[in-house]
Parts: sequence; structure tokens; C-alpha cells
Amino acid sequence: MALPNLWGLYNLRSSPYFQATLRQDVAGTPVSLFVGRQAERQRLLTTIGSSRSSRQAVAGRPGIGKTTLVQVVKADALEAGYWTSAEVLPISAAEQGEDLLGRLLSGTYDAVLASHPQACGPAMEAAQQLVRGFRLRGGGFTVSGFGFGGGGSHSEGVSTPPSPLLLDGPRALRDLLNYAREEGAEGVVLHLNNLENLSEADAGRAADLLRGIRDQALLLDGLHLVVVGTTDAVRTVVQRHTQVRSVFSDPIVLEPLALGQVQLLLAHRYDALRLDPDRPRQTPVAHTVIEQLYALFRGDLRGLLKALEDGLTALLGLTAGGEAAVPIGMADLLLVLRQRNRLELKEQLGGGLWERLQEWADDDPAAERTQAGLVALWGIKQPSVSQTLQALIEAGAIEAQPRQGREAIRYLLTGTARLGLGVA
Ligand SMILES: Nc1ncnc2c1ncn2[C@@H]1O[C@H](COP(=O)(O)OP(=O)(O)OP(=O)(O)O)[C@@H](O)[C@H]1O
Ligand SMILES: [Mg+2]
Repeated sequence: MALPNLWGLYNLRSSPYFQATLRQDVAGTPVSLFVGRQAERQRLLTTIGSSRSSRQAVAGRPGIGKTTLVQVVKADALEAGYWTSAEVLPISAAEQGEDLLGRLLSGTYDAVLASHPQACGPAMEAAQQLVRGFRLRGGGFTVSGFGFGGGGSHSEGVSTPPSPLLLDGPRALRDLLNYAREEGAEGVVLHLNNLENLSEADAGRAADLLRGIRDQALLLDGLHLVVVGTTDAVRTVVQRHTQVRSVFSDPIVLEPLALGQVQLLLAHRYDALRLDPDRPRQTPVAHTVIEQLYALFRGDLRGLLKALEDGLTALLGLTAGGEAAVPIGMADLLLVLRQRNRLELKEQLGGGLWERLQEWADDDPAAERTQAGLVALWGIKQPSVSQTLQALIEAGAIEAQPRQGREAIRYLLTGTARLGLGVA
């Protein structure tokens, strides 16, 4: 017996508003759904193709499509004979040079195995041993709330003996890259994902870390690195030291997709998920709804898709079976999203923070605010403002705008928060 499917009403197999990143190894989220970004895609590929080793960075606001772009570039590179895997390597939790080396080595090892399952020999064995040790220590999977700042103890006080990874990692990595090329790979493409905004001190440490492993690891022949992160994080970490900046290409900063491309993105998904090919395509929401919601989310595709999925799931759950499928309008959608986002945010934030958010919205929901402005609005001291902002960012209620030169950072309410606050 088939289970009930809400989306069947619209001749869809499942939700067309999923928020997962596209990736080449998962059937439900194929890279063939990708739209636009041709210039950026080409630039990333050309840089990889033009040199024996390369380092690039992709930056942009939350949810704008950074990870998906790099997934598509890796799929392209794979077709062109590079070895790579659809896995992404976390970077924000790296605390030591050792961790970063471990991640590069285990990422390369996985890319080799993914593209060449019969890989074997001394280079593979040496790498495997180090990778296993690294993973046993929880490497690559530790979620440290402190980002880069949690560590630091290795360099101070009692000296611990250098780990096998620090001693042998660089050579193992070099041998593995050579092996890949002997076996016919054009090179190996690695994807370091989600470098987040860090405090100045932590960003400094992260930048030092990259500098520390530059010659041993970053510049190795056959290695092509793509680092992804928020605009400020990429700027501080990659561009801080001349020694690092000089070996990275200028970061690619992603702009929001144009509205027409967002409509196309959805059309691709409706087509791919069509249940009955003989029945026409029926869009669950009117075109104007996408237009209005996208304006609210200002390029945040993940936020837009989540709003559509949440809103429609709630509304479709209410309709009785057998009703004719009509596109849902903005008024109905707003009604459920307000209620839902309000509950979710309130619960996540707790009373105090929710009130601060309301004060912000009551004063002017569209305002871009600085910390100084918020000291005045909230009547609390700067350190509390800074703490509050951190919590609000983590909850997805506000977003920090990329720094403009020496100006103070500006903050904005996100689409999700504006819906919940009833000011959308
Ligand atoms: N160019 C594109 N074509 C089709 N779908 C896209 C495109 N860019 C992004 N998407 C879709 O939008 C959603 C968000 O994309 P993605 O996860 O790549 O954003 P991100 O910038 O990496 O987000 P975050 O800041 O949360 O890491 C995903 O569901 C993805 O499939
Ligand atoms: Mg991402």
C-alpha cells in the first residue's frame, strides 16, 4: 500500500522545495537541477584546469548557493578526469594544524577511493594508517562550539610530542597525490566547506594555521582546493597574510540568483518530480508568491525553500483529499508562516531574546543596525549587545552583512524572523 503523499495533488512525487545541497552521488538531488552561475562555474573550472595545483575561495551570504556551486564544479571536474568526492570537509572546527592536515589527507584519500575503488599500494597504505588514526581521535567529525578558538593549548605550556600526522602527513599527502596522477588522475579536487564568521582572534589563528601548512600541504602538485565560507570569514582567513593571499585566487563572491533563475530552478524541480508524465505540470504556488517571498529572503534560497515547504505542508495537510489543485496564494501562505515561524523562533530564543527582536521590528523592521545603534535601542551595554547578536545569528533571526571597509558591521532581520514577527 502506498502511503499518502501530500504533493500528489500537484502531480508531484515529493516536495519540490527540499533544501538539501545538490550533489552528484544522490539520486534525489542531482546536479542536473542546477541553474545559472555559468561565469562562476567556468572561472572555478578554468583555474583548476590551468595549473598543476590551485587554491580558490567561494564566498557569499547564508543560503545563497555556495555549497551547491562547488558540488557542481566537482561533478564537472570528475567528468574531466579529476578525482574528487561529493563529501565536503568541514573546516570551521579545525583547531590545530594537525587537524587541517588530517582533513586534507583523509579528504584526498576518500576522493581517490571514490574515483578509483581499486586503489592500492604503499601510498594508499601509508595514508590509510594516518587517516584511521585521525578518525579514531574523532578528527573531522568533532563539533567544537569554539571553532578555531577551542585549541591553542598545544603551543603553550607543556610540549606534547609531535603526532604522526604532523611528522608524516605532508609526505603521505604528497605520495598519495603522485599516486593518483600515476593512475591517470588529472589532479584531486577538495572542497573545504563552511568557514564561518570567526572572532578576530580566532580568524587570526585560522589564518596562521593555513600559513603554517602552506608549503607542506597547500602547494602540493596535483592538489586543487576550493574553500567555501561567509564573505567576511573568507576575507579574514584567506586574505589576512600575504603568504596565504598570494597563493589563493581572488575570492568569488556570489550574488543572489536573479528572480527568473529562481523560477527556473523551481520549474526544473517540478519537472523532475512529476508523477504522471501525461498529466500537465501544476505549480503549487502562484508565480507572484515566489516573487514576493524571494524579495523577503534577499537571495537566501535555503530560507525561501524552507518557507515554501513549511507553509505548503501545513496548508496541504488541511485540504481534504479530492479537492482540485489550485495554486496557493500569498495571503494563505503568510498566515501559516507567521504562526509557525513565531512559535519556532520564540521557543528557540526564549522570552528575553524574542522581546529584543520585537523591539527591533517595532522600531523599523527593515533597518540595518550597528552594535552602537542597538546599544541605544535596547538600552544595554555593548558586551551584552554582542552576546545577544551572536545568539540571534545562531537562531537564524538576523544576519551580519559583510563588512564594508572600516565601517562597523551592520545587521539585518532575516526573512524567517520578519515572517515570525508579522512584519513581512
Ligand atoms: N544554482 C542553483 N541551481 C539550483 N539549485 C540551487 C542553486 N544554488 C542553490 N540551490 C539550492 O538552494 C539551496 C541552498 O543552496 P546551498 O546549500 O548551496 O547554499 P549555501 O550558500 O551553501 O548555504 P549555507 O550558507 O547554509 O551553507 C539548496 O537546496 C540548493 O539545492
Ligand atoms: Mg553551504
